[in-house]
Amino acid sequence: MSFEFFAPCPRGLETALAAELAETAQQRLPPGALDVGAEVPGGVHFRGNWAGGMAANLHSRIASRVLLKIAQQPYRSEQDIYALAREQRWEQWFSANETLRIDITAIKSPLRSLEFATLRVKDAICDRMREKSGARPSIDTAFPDVRVFAFLTAGDCTLYLDTSGEPLFKRGWRLDKGAAPLRENLAAGILRLTGWTPGTPLFDPMCGSGTFLAEAAQVALDIAPGLTRSFGFERLKQFDTAAWRHLKSEANTARNTAQSKVRDLHIYGSDISDLMLEKARANFTRAGLGNVPLKQLDARNMTPPEDAPGILVANPPYGERIEVRGRNARGEARPTARDRDEDGEGFRRADTDAPDAEFFNAFGDALKQRFTGWRAFVLTSDRKLPGQLRLRESAKTPLFNGALECRLFRFDLIAGSVRQRPAAGAADTGNEA
Ligand SMILES: C[S@@+](CC[C@H](N)C(=O)[O-])C[C@H]1O[C@@H](n2cnc3c(N)ncnc32)[C@H](O)[C@@H]1O
Repeated sequence: MSFEFFAPCPRGLETALAAELAETAQQRLPPGALDVGAEVPGGVHFRGNWAGGMAANLHSRIASRVLLKIAQQPYRSEQDIYALAREQRWEQWFSANETLRIDITAIKSPLRSLEFATLRVKDAICDRMREKSGARPSIDTAFPDVRVFAFLTAGDCTLYLDTSGEPLFKRGWRLDKGAAPLRENLAAGILRLTGWTPGTPLFDPMCGSGTFLAEAAQVALDIAPGLTRSFGFERLKQFDTAAWRHLKSEANTARNTAQSKVRDLHIYGSDISDLMLEKARANFTRAGLGNVPLKQLDARNMTPPEDAPGILVANPPYGERIEVRGRNARGEARPTARDRDEDGEGFRRADTDAPDAEFFNAFGDALKQRFTGWRAFVLTSDRKLPGQLRLRESAKTPLFNGALECRLFRFDLIAGSVRQRPAAGAADTGNEA
């Protein structure tokens, strides 16, 4: 039996997700189990059987969820949505003993209240279940057994049953986070955009809790991102336990086979904060990633971890989230968030930009002087970053870190041809990639 699925992902990673799903289909499934369809802003459609849906949950590092399409129809009012939800055979998917949560996302919907629309979907499903089984499921917004998603456009309502449960970026091993950790699926998508492959040196000089490093190490060690967590589909009546056992057993074999690579990962990190490095170490241990070398170091003093050039990736602190730490050229400590934010907007005032600019000037110098042959990728919401680094980007890719619009800047540090730019704030002339 074939189903239609939709896998949402952080905006900007749709093509990377489509490529990843196609790889899963080709390398881990029989033909026809998962056929990748259209990319749309915020996700990728695919068709497949139950094993295809489960494999996408188990192996996708980039998707946020895997949703099973139940119905799609034009609507004008909440009553139309109620009628559509009421006529679906929910009882074939779950029983009234299961707890339920409904979420609605809308783009250009004419409805006045999405809250009311959410209530109507809930009423429709509960009324249907009571009619068919004599009992209504209860609602649990914190830890539901079953989640239903409704997606509204200007004219269409689509109902989905979630097969993931907790979002897929929750891999089950990260307990220790910093102030501004990167979501695992955004980090995994960025790694794919960098073109990094296992064996190439990878270095994150502001690694924080180690998200880039952990995602890369899991790729190198062939550890399926969902290997140690549970999924929403395990609660559904259609759950195919035999097919699931088979997929998990193959994923366990792949991980065991790749274990011998654990001593030779070529993956390195550093951060100015010892506390962050402790968190990173604890995360790596929980994720079974062996010993990724980590150093406490100011990124301005960084040196390449290996002779062979590789890929440097970082998401430095930026104003909206946290601040750059360390001392300035005169040895003075940087002002703290409290010092700078008395009026609630201190981070964004031009005169307080200076310390960060000084840090990024020095970071740019370190890249130019010591990282010849490397490719550096920096994720930031600050479009002035190339100017502050005094480097011209080779490409910039728009990406969303939650609601925050960012750019992934790429700098090719080719010998003798490092493309310099004169000063911060210079006109932005790079290409969108
Ligand atoms: C946005 S966080 C990075 C988060 C990380 N990608 C993660 O997933 O947890 C920025 C990191 O830069 C570090 N940092 C700040 N100033 C630094 C400096 N001068 N040198 C090196 N690291 C610094 C902070 O300690 C923080 O961990």
